[in-house]
Amino acid sequence: MFTTDRLQLRGFEPSDARSIFDLRNNPSVQPTMSNEYVVPRGLKFMEKLVANAEEAVIHNNLEGVVPSDGRELVGTTSITMTHPKNRDGDFVIVLSPKFWGQGYGEEVTRWVVDHAFRSLGLHRVSLRVFDGNERAKKMYRKVGFVEEGRQRKVHWVDGHWEDSVLMGILQEEWDLDAHRARASVASIPATDPLF
Ligand SMILES: CC(C)(COP(=O)(O)OP(=O)(O)OC[C@H]1O[C@@H](n2cnc3c(N)ncnc32)[C@H](O)[C@@H]1OP(=O)(O)O)[C@@H](O)C(=O)NCCC(=O)NCCS
Repeated sequence: MFTTDRLQLRGFEPSDARSIFDLRNNPSVQPTMSNEYVVPRGLKFMEKLVANAEEAVIHNNLEGVVPSDGRELVGTTSITMTHPKNRDGDFVIVLSPKFWGQGYGEEVTRWVVDHAFRSLGLHRVSLRVFDGNERAKKMYRKVGFVEEGRQRKVHWVDGHWEDSVLMGILQEEWDLDAHRARASVASIPATDPLF
């Protein structure tokens, strides 16, 4: 099983299509995922989402769907190896707004990054985030992503321009963080008299 503390990750199933469509059609979610027009999307959009999800499986990318207890869809995440030679994966995550702010994003992102380095053989994970998406930027920084560059004023959103920020994390940075975490646990003095 592909599980985090509170979630499961599984492949796309045809019955997910409606939930994914509703999520990606949500007007609060649309401008975080693309710089296209924010408009109500129809059947063609749903077909595209399904085709992408199915293709992701065929091309051996991870297209994890994230149900909490297997019943309700929390969101989707994927990592796409666009250039396998460079062992670089493009990371995407989108969760339903009712699940925001409960640490699920960080939980899933940490799992995917760890999986990317430990099992998929990647040496870096990349992503793009719009500059106004403070929640996502904060979460990515907590996981260890750093800003690597930006495309200026590419997104006209809610009456202003926003930059697209390129972020990345390298395997050695992830390993160093894990090493530091282990070291700090080991250095905590045992106060329990049983020890
Ligand atoms: C981005 C997303 C995946 C984050 O998931 P999440 O579960 O809400 O994130 P988490 O709860 O793990 O972490 C969010 C952090 O941002 C903080 N935060 C929330 N709103 C914030 C704001 N306006 N400004 C700064 N920080 C904010 C939270 O307090 C939390 O930090 P903390 O853990 O130190 O308290 C989710 O909000 C989402 O799916 N958004 C829509 C799609 C999207 O933006 N995807 C990313 C595109 S690059």
